[in-house]
Amino acid sequence: MILHDEPSGLFTLHTRATAYQMKVDEHRVLLHTYYGPKIPDQDLSGLLLRTDRGFSPNPYEAGADRTYSLDVMPQEYSTCGVGDFRLPSIELELPSGSHTCDLRYCGCEMRPGKYALEGLPAFFGGGAETLILRLEDAAAQVEVLLYFSVFEELDLITRAVEVRNVGEREVRLCRCASLCLDLPRGDLDFITFNGRHLMERRLERAPLRSGVQSVGSTRGASSHQHNPFVMLCDRSAGEDAGLCYGAMLLYSGNFEAAAERSQFETTRLVMGIHPYHFCWTLAPGGTFTAPEAALVCSPDGFGQMSRQFHRAIRDHLIRDPYRGRRRPVLINNWEATYFDFTANKLCEIAEEAAALGIELFVMDDGWFGRRDDDSSGLGDWFVNREKLPGGLEALVPRINRLGMSFGIWVEPEMVSEDSQLYRDHPDWALQVPGRAPARGRGQLVLDFSRQDVRDHIYGQLRTVLSSAPITYVKWDMNRSLCDVWSAALPARRQGEVYHRFVLGVYDLLERLRRDYPELLLEGCCGGGGRFDGGMLYYTPQIWCSDNSDAIDRLSIQYGTSFCYPPEAMGAHVSAVPNQQNGRVTPIQTRGIAAMSGAFGYELDLSKCTSEEKACIRRQVRSYQEHYDLIHSGDYYRLAAPGEAGPFAAWAHVSPDRERALVSLVTGGTGAAQPFRRLRLKGLDPAGRYRVNGGETLWSGGLLMSEGYPLPVPEGDYQALQLYFQAADSQ
Ligand code: DGJ
Repeated sequence: MILHDEPSGLFTLHTRATAYQMKVDEHRVLLHTYYGPKIPDQDLSGLLLRTDRGFSPNPYEAGADRTYSLDVMPQEYSTCGVGDFRLPSIELELPSGSHTCDLRYCGCEMRPGKYALEGLPAFFGGGAETLILRLEDAAAQVEVLLYFSVFEELDLITRAVEVRNVGEREVRLCRCASLCLDLPRGDLDFITFNGRHLMERRLERAPLRSGVQSVGSTRGASSHQHNPFVMLCDRSAGEDAGLCYGAMLLYSGNFEAAAERSQFETTRLVMGIHPYHFCWTLAPGGTFTAPEAALVCSPDGFGQMSRQFHRAIRDHLIRDPYRGRRRPVLINNWEATYFDFTANKLCEIAEEAAALGIELFVMDDGWFGRRDDDSSGLGDWFVNREKLPGGLEALVPRINRLGMSFGIWVEPEMVSEDSQLYRDHPDWALQVPGRAPARGRGQLVLDFSRQDVRDHIYGQLRTVLSSAPITYVKWDMNRSLCDVWSAALPARRQGEVYHRFVLGVYDLLERLRRDYPELLLEGCCGGGGRFDGGMLYYTPQIWCSDNSDAIDRLSIQYGTSFCYPPEAMGAHVSAVPNQQNGRVTPIQTRGIAAMSGAFGYELDLSKCTSEEKACIRRQVRSYQEHYDLIHSGDYYRLAAPGEAGPFAAWAHVSPDRERALVSLVTGGTGAAQPFRRLRLKGLDPAGRYRVNGGETLWSGGLLMSEGYPLPVPEGDYQALQLYFQAADSQ
């Protein structure tokens, strides 16, 4: 619910458990007065104390009042160069050369429904309500529109920003954040999700220090290194209790999430497109739209925040037809064959897979152009007839006859110098005049900011997709962007290329969705280098990491689960010793770790023993049986992986609390291990549950307070799945 009290200038956004308040003050400055647990309807600006602060300037119109300063008051969208020295949300370069921006409130609009953003990913849904606040910088002749939508039941508030040049001269936008959040306290922890290729999204938590702490990406993709999802929380907050805020940016390119603890121990979080090499020219009448950001505040700890994000992503970001639709169990040939395969080899793997109940065969890298290793072929999206003599027209029906659907891998944004495409169009690759471009994985990046480049690639993809019944595409991206310069833009507008590149990626993904509505898209960027809410709008699942080791995966999937739901995480069982770290884990453990995601296999099944195959058959069946729980149940983190304890555990609980699937993986073994119990969460305290169909009835309350006794594990990296079912349910 959105309330506007005109006389007091108050805007209050109410969700089920939280409230968010802004106030237009006597100088038309839009203050941020509250965000936190639900409050009665009242003006909270009284909580803001004013006093004369040395070296904090006072706006001219405040006259002799030295207690009024933008530098200390909480701002809804912070400005720059006019007296607030904390993190700015916007920076303009005006025709005069000035970089200032001073925004004052000038109007509002309220609408039912959710706003949409053209060309950009955004949450959607009928149940939302929207508020648009108009701010103006009269001197700069610039208008800023702040969009807010409220999804009440989800405690979700989405935000977007539009900047308009309403003057007659060109204005340049050098920074345009999607979100600014001022909180009145500085004693908060900042939680970020960091890592590297093969080890993405590992949770790091640290108390805020004075000054600015930030994470971000200037790699052109949201990156393996940092994720555009961050949290602020009470020092004492944890999984099941305490106040926390989660902030997510729906964007797949350069971003920055910066938190600043100010001199007076308040906190400002600013999140949006990274200002590095960002500069957008706004012609008179021109508009720029910043990507969407979304906030969830949970007064009840991290778990509740995550479940709200999961529901929001499931129901309001993942689009039809894959919203709520069961995803096929797949087999991918990458780790089985790498580039070295023939049509017969692929069919051999597929035959084994079909016999085990696997539903989709995915042909990974190496099927196109002249591609026998990673040094050539990218950009030539036509079948390599040496490897696949009859083309897809012959291969796909062979796979289909096994009862499996068929998918392919592509990497549309890239080009190899050794390719027909590059020989024909060397100027289509991003490169700076006079400099030899850096290679990444031996390849260059296509200038996806250009429509002609995108059209050409799309034309090739269409020909492939129309040549056979292809139901799935894995869209990969295997290097970071550098040498970012576009031959299609003048010097003054090169600061637009990074963002135009991302818009180009979204444009092509949207065309694919439009022309092939049934196609299941899986995002990928050397594993999880572009795992963000922006991609999820187009690709309902994303390959979570190139690291397929079950144990490393536990912490990657754990970190990822703070914002993103399990079914968004592509997760596969691969061979042992694992090809990324050499670890040997039982097949049972690999299955249980991967099953908590968009499940699949990535190994040569013809090399598996009959026991392993029997186990795989059981896993596929079990995943299919429990699919609705895994993909629409509530996710509870029961025990964190890694240093925190001897095992990792998590649960998927049905919304009616009648069923729960609990998974647990142990670490290294040891003699004389203590007795351990696993405390469950999310059950009905008054309910009684059977475990794995057994006779004994266990009290839900007791399972949550005292826990379920765990067998003593024998051997390293054991795994266990427990299925709890309420006694009186079917
Ligand atoms: C990186 C991906 O993450 C892998 O799964 C695989 O598709 C390779 N690229 C292929 O080059």
